Amino acid sequence: MVKDQLKKSVGWAALQYILFSRVIGVGTGSTVTYFIEALNSVKDKIEGVVSSSNHSSNQLKKLGIPLYNLNSLHELDVYFDSADEIDIHMQMIKGGGGALTKEKIIAAAAKKFVCIVDSSKQVNILGRGPVPIEVIPMARSFVARELIRLGGLPEYRHNMITDNGNNILDVYNMKITNASLLETKINNIPGVVSVGIFAQRRADIVLIGTKDGIKTIIS
Ligand code: 5RP
Repeated sequence: MVKDQLKKSVGWAALQYILFSRVIGVGTGSTVTYFIEALNSVKDKIEGVVSSSNHSSNQLKKLGIPLYNLNSLHELDVYFDSADEIDIHMQMIKGGGGALTKEKIIAAAAKKFVCIVDSSKQVNILGRGPVPIEVIPMARSFVARELIRLGGLPEYRHNMITDNGNNILDVYNMKITNASLLETKINNIPGVVSVGIFAQRRADIVLIGTKDGIKTIIS
């Protein structure tokens, strides 16, 4: 099965984790686009959605699915999102779509994080691809130099301004032996808004679209 079909199948499989009559959190990306398509089929049974990006909000608005501001909610049951990489500890790298900061906020606020991925996203050790980092524009060069000190090779993602008005650095060559420690170290660099390592807030449930069907991992 081609990757796109796996993304679609896992997007639809995630419907089973929706709690009806509640607000749910929704991430960003091509897998989530399929999830939102699936969500449309049950939209009358949910209260609405907290969205992690303008891109997802636009898709949701077009489908007539009500949007909620996170500040108006006392609690959030569940957040659905994909990842660029996920390891056996359910730690992830996210931010391929540049929406990592709001994704991190909603993931942290949610009681459960349901991660939906196709099998190509599974890795033994995080760091196969770049680690995206959202940075305040004036700090971009300073943060890049600090990342080189940590052993990384940062690349400025040109032509990309995040929904928050910031820049993205994609950092290659990171040796991620302790993802949680590296998450803290990078978060502590002044000018970093957030880092796309999701080790401190991992997924609780992972649905993996494989050629043999959906594989489910629950922590
Ligand atoms: C966006 C993300 C996405 O979840 C990640 O990039 C995966 O995207 P896709 O579903 O298109 O493969 O973190 O910031």
